[in-house]
Amino acid sequence: NIYGDRQNSLGRDYSQAADRERHAKALERVDSEKLTSGPIIGGKLRAGVNPQDVTNPYDRSQVLGHVSEASAEDVDAAVNAAAEAQVAWDRIGGAGRAPILRAMADVLEADMDRLVALLSREAGKTLNDGVAEVREAADFCRYYALLAERDFGGRQTLKGPTGETNELVLHGRGVFAAISPWNFPLAIFAGQIAAALAAGNAVVAKPAEQTPLIAAEAVRLFYRAGLNPDLLALVPGRGEVVGAALTNHPGIDGVAFTGGTDTASAINRGLAARPGAIIPFIAETGGLNAMFVDTTALKEQVIDDVILSAFGSAGQRCSALRILYAPKEAADALIEGLKGALAAQVVADPTDPKSDIGPVIDAESRANLEAHVERLSKEARIVARADLPAGADKGDLFAPTIAEIPTPDFLEREVFGPILHVYRYDSKDLKSVAAKLAARGYGLTLGVHSRIEAFADEVVRLVPAGNVYVNRSIIGAVVGVQPFGGEGLSGTGPKAGGPNSLIRYAAEKAISVNI
Ligand code: NAD
Ligand code: ALA
Repeated sequence: NIYGDRQNSLGRDYSQAADRERHAKALERVDSEKLTSGPIIGGKLRAGVNPQDVTNPYDRSQVLGHVSEASAEDVDAAVNAAAEAQVAWDRIGGAGRAPILRAMADVLEADMDRLVALLSREAGKTLNDGVAEVREAADFCRYYALLAERDFGGRQTLKGPTGETNELVLHGRGVFAAISPWNFPLAIFAGQIAAALAAGNAVVAKPAEQTPLIAAEAVRLFYRAGLNPDLLALVPGRGEVVGAALTNHPGIDGVAFTGGTDTASAINRGLAARPGAIIPFIAETGGLNAMFVDTTALKEQVIDDVILSAFGSAGQRCSALRILYAPKEAADALIEGLKGALAAQVVADPTDPKSDIGPVIDAESRANLEAHVERLSKEARIVARADLPAGADKGDLFAPTIAEIPTPDFLEREVFGPILHVYRYDSKDLKSVAAKLAARGYGLTLGVHSRIEAFADEVVRLVPAGNVYVNRSIIGAVVGVQPFGGEGLSGTGPKAGGPNSLIRYAAEKAISVNI
């Protein structure tokens, strides 16, 4: 039983004064701390190179702390220390490793208020998103602890001929490079590390450029949980410099990557070109996520689910809804409803408990989204844009947008932010509309809203997706409940938070003995 008595982590309730007070105190602490991030190797922060301020995306005048980039020597030292420590870690087996992962879940929960405050300040997360993220990080740790005990607990005996014993054993591959994105700077960052560690590897982690402070805090929490510091190093810095130095380092035995599809291709090309090595590559990437609605769907429920799926977390989830396929008979009513619901969303400082939508991650992202809106205003029809509060230009708030697009394959690639595209389709064209979307090659999340099972089945058959949601929102996969990950251009698998999560982090050995 892989569930055991494990329970997913509990959250906060910001309608309660006590939780709001704890949050206010945590925010004060984060604002006064001036955190430091940089290369952390063997538990020690090194000087690194190219020091920079880390600022708040909601208010760029607020400096949260500082980061320095890992140099090539730092990357080298991190990989070498990790390789040395990995051997003993692998040997203690899943039962020896699981307690550290469970302790990490406990320290994450104990530090929840401060982590939520930091997630808001550094990554623009609303309070509920921040809480969900800390919970998810803790859930990954506890879930992978269970899998470590289940799969790395000794030898599995296999049936064979008389006079021979046959056994199968799983073990760590060595040193894993863990490369993560800014949009889940704690949950994905810690989740990749926890998976690699659970399977018996050491890890060198390269966080996203935008979120080095939370990454350094997470690494310190792993140490506080009792992890030997040599087993986990942090090497912050630019992807094409530090990330590339890490993935191309000859001491790396596997790469776990989450981020954009183009970055995954670039890393994959680098790994393929490495002489004398075949390196396992786990990639979780972006999607062109769609929801198909038919005329039997409940309008109010569709509107709620679409607003949450497209605009929750400022649309900065890989799972977020990008294209709503609305039946032509119901499209006008749906669009009107969505306009009203968007107007009710509060775009504001994410540390305000009333905020539904915080900033996008940086000025580059905001500029790209504005350029896309410019394209939509020429080639499509802008239906609605939400209001921004006064003073929005001190940071990277972006007005969430709904646009009606003229063709089912108007989007060639993922647009990463709070922009919902609506395409009105004729039900007799369902197959060709779905085929055009499928031809783009992605396959991450898919939603269907319908009271007719056959309609849902048909959409699921026509549109590739790793995670399918029927009559609900398409975001917020829960560890152990909705194992998460895509297919095609959206990822290689294995899914995060599922029963097969650890298999590609491990090597298998079959041992046959003639007795
Ligand atoms: P990104 O691809 O720009 O960066 C991801 C990481 O890769 C960062 O740490 C970056 O520094 C590093 N990197 C960049 N170039 C590199 C290189 N040449 N070599 C090694 N590392 C390199 O992605 P992002 O903007 O940080 O994150 C957003 C993207 O992540 C979106 O496309 C989103 O859909 C995707 N995402 C996917 C999932 C999933 O589970 N499928 C989850 C979250 C985010
Ligand atoms: N796992 C995250 C979600 O489901 C990305 O929204």
